[in-house]
Amino acid sequence: MARSGKVTVVGAGFYGSTTALRLAEYDVFETVVLTDIVEGKPEGLALDMNQSRSIENFETKVIGATTTADGGGYEATANSDVVVITAGLPRKPGMSRMDLIGVNAGIVRGVAENVAKHSPNAVIIVVSNPLDEMTALAQIATNFPKHRVMGQAGMLDTARFTHFVAEKLQVPVSSVKTLTLGSHGETMVPVPSRCTVDGKPLSDQLSEVEIAELVDRTRNGGAEVVALLKTGSAYYAPSAAAARMAKAVIEDSGAVMPVCAWVDGEYGISGVYLGVEAEIGRTGIKKVVESKLSDTEIAALKIAAEAVRAKQADVKDL
Ligand code: NAI
Ligand code: 2OP
Repeated sequence: MARSGKVTVVGAGFYGSTTALRLAEYDVFETVVLTDIVEGKPEGLALDMNQSRSIENFETKVIGATTTADGGGYEATANSDVVVITAGLPRKPGMSRMDLIGVNAGIVRGVAENVAKHSPNAVIIVVSNPLDEMTALAQIATNFPKHRVMGQAGMLDTARFTHFVAEKLQVPVSSVKTLTLGSHGETMVPVPSRCTVDGKPLSDQLSEVEIAELVDRTRNGGAEVVALLKTGSAYYAPSAAAARMAKAVIEDSGAVMPVCAWVDGEYGISGVYLGVEAEIGRTGIKKVVESKLSDTEIAALKIAAEAVRAKQADVKDL
C-alpha cells in the first residue's frame, strides 16, 4: 500500500492519543507525530503504539515529541500536511465548553503560532473547546487562508444523533442518516428534515415529541458523557471524527462532512466559522455545500451564526 504524508496531533491527552492511534491504524500516512508539553508522555505513547504495529498490521510510524511553550520540540512536526490541535483543558461536570475559553485560548494561540512556523502549508483541524471560537482563533494566529483551517464538531454531533435514532428504533446505525449543523454548543442545529431511516423520513417513524427528545439529547451529548466520566470528556467518538477528517484531507477524497468551516454567503450567512457541510480535500475546505433545509432550520442556523459571531469577534484579543 502506498503511504504518504505527515500528520501531527498536538496534545497527547485522551482525544489526541486516540486520534493518533486511529490515524496510524488507517495505514495511509507515512508518519504520525504526537506532541505534548508533558515530558516523555508523547514519546511513551508513540513507542507503545509502534509496538502494536505487527499485531494490527500497519506500517505508519508514530513519533512522539515533547514540546515547550516557546516552540521547543516543534522541529519534529516540520512540514506536516495536516495538524490536529487537541491541546487544551477538557470540561468537568457542570462546566460549559465556553468556561474553557480563557485558558484554552492561550494554549491554542501558542500552538497555532508554532504550527504555522514549522508547517506553513498544513491543513489545520481544531478540536479544542470552545470549538467554534478556537477554530477562529487558530486561523487568526496562523494567518492561514480560511479554507485551510477547520474545526471538528459536526461529525461528532451527527454521529451522536445517528446513534440515538438507531437505539430508539432498534435498527442498525448503517440504516440511519442524520445531520447537525450550527455551533458545537447551545446553538447546535440538529436537522430532522435531513434524517432518514432506510431512506424514509424520520418523521414517518417517530413523533414530533420523540424527535425533539433525541434532538435535545444530541445537543447535550457531550455533557451526558462528562457527567458520567466525572473527570474529562468524550474521546472515542470525537477522535473517530477528527481522524476521518484528516484522512479525507490526505486522500483528497472530496468527502462531504459536517465541519466547522468559514462561511461566505451560504444560507445568507457570511464572515463566521460555523458548522456546515463541506467537501474536504488536500486544500482543506474545497467547498461549503449548501443543501435544502426547512425555513425553521435555516432560521436556527442564522441564530447559531450570530451567537458564535459575537464570541469569535472577541477571540482576537485573547
Ligand atoms: P486531556 O486533558 O486528556 O488532554 C489535553 C492534553 O493537552 C494534555 O495532555 C495536556 O498536557 C496537553 N497540552 C496542554 N497544553 C499544551 C500545549 N501548549 N501543547 C501541547 N499539548 C498541550 O483532554 P482531552 O480529552 O484530550 O480533550 C482535549 C480538548 O478537546 C479539550 O479542550 C476538550 O474540551 C476538546 N474536545 C473537543 C471535542 C469536539 O468535538 N470538538 C470533543 C471532545 C473534547
Ligand atoms: C464533546 O462534545 C466535550 O465537546 C466535547 O464531547
